[in-house]
Amino acid sequence: MFIDVSNRFTVAPMTRTSADEHGVPTALMGDYYERFAKGGFGLIITEGVYTDDRASQGYVNQPGMINADQADAWQQIVERIHKHGSKVIMQLMHAGVQMQYNRFVDEPIGPSAVQPKGEPLNLYGDVPGWLEPREATASDLEQALNGFVASAQRAKEAGFDGVELHGANGYLLNEFLSTHFNQREDDFGGSLDKRIAYVAQVVKAVRAAVGSDFVVGIRISQITVTDNEYQWPEGEEAAVKLVKTLEAAGVDFIHTTDTSVGRKPFACGSERTLAQVVAQESEVGLIINGGIDETNYADYAAEFPNALLALGKKALANPDFPERFQDDKPLADLDFQMLLPKATLENEWQWRKDNGQ
Ligand SMILES: Cc1cc2nc3c(=O)[nH]c(=O)nc-3n(C[C@H](O)[C@H](O)[C@H](O)COP(=O)(O)O)c2cc1C
Repeated sequence: MFIDVSNRFTVAPMTRTSADEHGVPTALMGDYYERFAKGGFGLIITEGVYTDDRASQGYVNQPGMINADQADAWQQIVERIHKHGSKVIMQLMHAGVQMQYNRFVDEPIGPSAVQPKGEPLNLYGDVPGWLEPREATASDLEQALNGFVASAQRAKEAGFDGVELHGANGYLLNEFLSTHFNQREDDFGGSLDKRIAYVAQVVKAVRAAVGSDFVVGIRISQITVTDNEYQWPEGEEAAVKLVKTLEAAGVDFIHTTDTSVGRKPFACGSERTLAQVVAQESEVGLIINGGIDETNYADYAAEFPNALLALGKKALANPDFPERFQDDKPLADLDFQMLLPKATLENEWQWRKDNGQ
């Protein structure tokens, strides 16, 4: 196992837009994260955290990891989680062209000046439409890489048990892999090898900076937050190449996410799931995510005996899922009212009060 956890129950990363206006985590966020540790989760992955004072921030009240105030507040949250014997990994996120709010810059950057499909996520703050992005220059990309590196170093110093680079769901690193977002004609666009190259460069730089004794992983998906249909045109071959390249670049784990762990998502008629490709094609640690609940937990745990199982919506609805599951107690489904009109912790706390929880 790439990390020494007390069990395989893992909280998936979930954006809650509840930091203060300077991106500093609040005491309420500490309550929120500690609750999962108390409820028995062996590992908690934080919400996506922005990594620089440029275009990485994507949402209003998103927490960052770019200065001492933010790092100190995170350190307190880490201590509250560790107190219960759970581990915590910080998800490092550059919003790319999915930026909806940023207090430093007005213009999103992406591999190319291409907007996402669908509509922005009003769950994270009302915006009238996608902003007009611009194609990232070589210097933008170097600065974004430096942001990942510096934030990973801060996370290590703050006592985190590792970092997860957000390479899924349509954010910057994921955009490089995608032929929708990435229409570059330089070394970072075009062929599959070139589309993977920037992501591999970031992984290598983070690994070199934090050393071999700190956990570094990456989350990957084909789907994005507004496009469940996207497929890499090379099909399963793209996943195999990506996984092998990430392993060679030095990741300790790969975290797969899909609409369902069991979906066979590839173009060109594949018979494997994304999680199966990672398990079968590499030696790296594996975290699986997508639709895991009390009805399928045991099956996925048996199919992937070495994987951690990450729960999103089920963990939100049941912060004590591991205890309830093991004691055969009833488990709730997520009531989306809890996250409306915005996915903030204030709204969740109000919903719990109104619903006697
Ligand atoms: C409120 C909310 C916020 C989310 N924020 C993030 C995020 O910050 N980073 C990320 O990688 N995924 C994020 N996700 C996706 C989840 O991590 C997970 O992949 C998704 O909910 C599917 O898993 P599930 O079926 O267990 O819920 C979010 C999901 C929800 C419901």
